Amino acid sequence: MAEILVPFNDLGRGTRELRTQIDSVIARVVSSGWFVLGPEHDALEYELSEYLGVKHTINVGNGTDALELALAAVGVKGGSQVVTVANAGAYTTTAALLLGAEPVYCDVDATTLLMSVETLETTLASLAEKPQAIVVTHLYGALAPINELVAVAHKHNIAIIEDCAQSLGATVDGRRGGSFADISTTSFYPTKNLGALGDGGAVFTNNDELANKVRRMRQYGWASKYSIEFDHGKNSRLDEIQAAVLRLKLPLLDKQNDRRKDIHSIYEKENDADIHFVNSASESFNGHLAVVISKNREKTRSALLDAGVKTDVHYPIPDHKQKFPSFKPRKSNLEVTEWAAESVFSLPLFPELTPNEIDQVVEALANC
Ligand SMILES: Cc1ncc(COP(=O)(O)O)c(C=O)c1O
Repeated sequence: MAEILVPFNDLGRGTRELRTQIDSVIARVVSSGWFVLGPEHDALEYELSEYLGVKHTINVGNGTDALELALAAVGVKGGSQVVTVANAGAYTTTAALLLGAEPVYCDVDATTLLMSVETLETTLASLAEKPQAIVVTHLYGALAPINELVAVAHKHNIAIIEDCAQSLGATVDGRRGGSFADISTTSFYPTKNLGALGDGGAVFTNNDELANKVRRMRQYGWASKYSIEFDHGKNSRLDEIQAAVLRLKLPLLDKQNDRRKDIHSIYEKENDADIHFVNSASESFNGHLAVVISKNREKTRSALLDAGVKTDVHYPIPDHKQKFPSFKPRKSNLEVTEWAAESVFSLPLFPELTPNEIDQVVEALANC
């Protein structure tokens, strides 16, 4: 194995670059004595709404809670069906199951590995009843054909949700992902393009009623202090320290996404017949992950590791193959999803990769 290892990710680097400013915003919160649902939190909601071009942002505790609350807001409950893809780490599946709903899986397009109009229409046509919601996962940082998917959902009178946990900042037709659907979600998990120093998430919508429901549900279902008037209340709040750190990082997001995309383009130049970059053709791509399809994944990954390049797999087990003890997914054709789970892997892609490390990846790709 090569002596120098290119890490798959290194969250310490970005944090060290911002250390003085991070220390200063944390000190500001500590001195204020206000730790939950305070001024940093409210300012972040305002700034995220401006950034995405939406009317409402509701901060919550993490991206899975954001999905659960968005699903509950559009009426998903015990017995409902939720249509989504099965290649995205089971986050929507987890949220739907928490509500007692049944996830119904839709295959993905063989080029983008995202939901397409065709795969969605096929799934909808296979169902005897109308599902309560569709969740579109903008996986790996590229947007699914969201204008068209919203049109299909609305034609069938079904609520549609965008999961932007991997796609924050991605844009199509001059609009940010997260501003198209009825309601959208994100995660601020530290490895996301906009990452906190711990867990965090948010819900976005232009709909006043949905925003009000999520705002109430994230704090016990309170209509006002100690007075519960909303179903499905829970405690899912983003604390002041995380909000202050995210406010510091939000203005840097577009520049960091550009850096990620530049690195991705450098890798792509070394594209050979055995490796195909999933996001080559995507204009909306925000550089979240450098996912490639390889005909012989384990051989290629092991050659890269020998050349000092660490890789990962997003994701090795599709949702319908997970061993949920009490959920047995209905049978459907998920041929592309299953092929992708066996063929994809991800190269290191984060803004603080050094020129030498990028060269090392390029060279390893050329030789593998
Ligand atoms: C696409 C997607 N959706 C949802 C989530 C869930 O977010 P969290 O880990 O903050 O619950 C993640 C991240 O892990 C994700 O990548």
